[in-house]
Amino acid sequence: MSAAALLPAASGGAVFVPLGPLGLAALLAAALAWGAARHLRRGGALRPWHRASAMVMGAFALVHVLAHLAALAGPAAHQAVLDALRQVYRHPVAEALLLASALFQVGSGAVLLWRGRAQRRGAVAWLQALSGGYLALFLLVHVSAVLQARVQGLDTNWYFAAAGLHVPLWSGFFAPYYALAVAALGVHIGCALYWNMPPARARWALALCGAAGVLLGTLLVLTLAGVWPAPPLEVPLPYRAPFLKG
Ligand code: HEM
Repeated sequence: MSAAALLPAASGGAVFVPLGPLGLAALLAAALAWGAARHLRRGGALRPWHRASAMVMGAFALVHVLAHLAALAGPAAHQAVLDALRQVYRHPVAEALLLASALFQVGSGAVLLWRGRAQRRGAVAWLQALSGGYLALFLLVHVSAVLQARVQGLDTNWYFAAAGLHVPLWSGFFAPYYALAVAALGVHIGCALYWNMPPARARWALALCGAAGVLLGTLLVLTLAGVWPAPPLEVPLPYRAPFLKG
């Protein structure tokens, strides 16, 4: 598939303005927040709610990030994998559930971060808090950018993700922004495993998840930038245009 075939004008039904799922997601997130608040007023804990929505978000994020490895074979291969996965997560109900859990994850994570600030002790607790804090910020910026681009009729494909890395100065923001997100995801999953495993295996699980996140984040940024190992990437102008204004 050529670059032209992946441009917005030629993307046919691939561009979907998510206003329906967004409305449903807002309702679902409000219902979740209301349920959690009621539970808290009766003396319950927020952490099990955060953990439950993390299952949805975490499963998506793992598949989503690993699927980006298809870009090692070029944007067309990435597009084929993206199209297959979109059949699942772009179903309006699935997408509403995903966006609601992302919103609830960010909100409940912020509450847990703030409430635990005085009691937090030890490196793992701090790693969990810092990686979660970064993921919350990243999710807010990343999902807003994806939805805004879709509303503007842009297909949010590999070129969309890579665009910022192909504009001088912006690449200095986008390289750490993506690399840290994937590293933080690995560390955050590792911390969750750490607290739920026997001590001898817990340290290994955390070290392996963290190392996998750092390696995968670095590899994806090099691929997005068209540096290595994929061939140099030519990002079409409509994707770079928002960064060239001003
Ligand atoms: C190198 C790292 C990443 C890249 C290049 C990337 C790229 C993308 C792209 C291209 C889309 C649009 C997908 C589509 O149109 O079907 C997207 C959507 C999304 N990404 Fe990422 N992403 C990255 C990391 C992450 C991480 C770590 C998370 C979660 C913690 C995440 C969460 C999401 C969510 C929730 C959506 C919205 C899905 C939807 O409703 O369409 N992403 N990302």
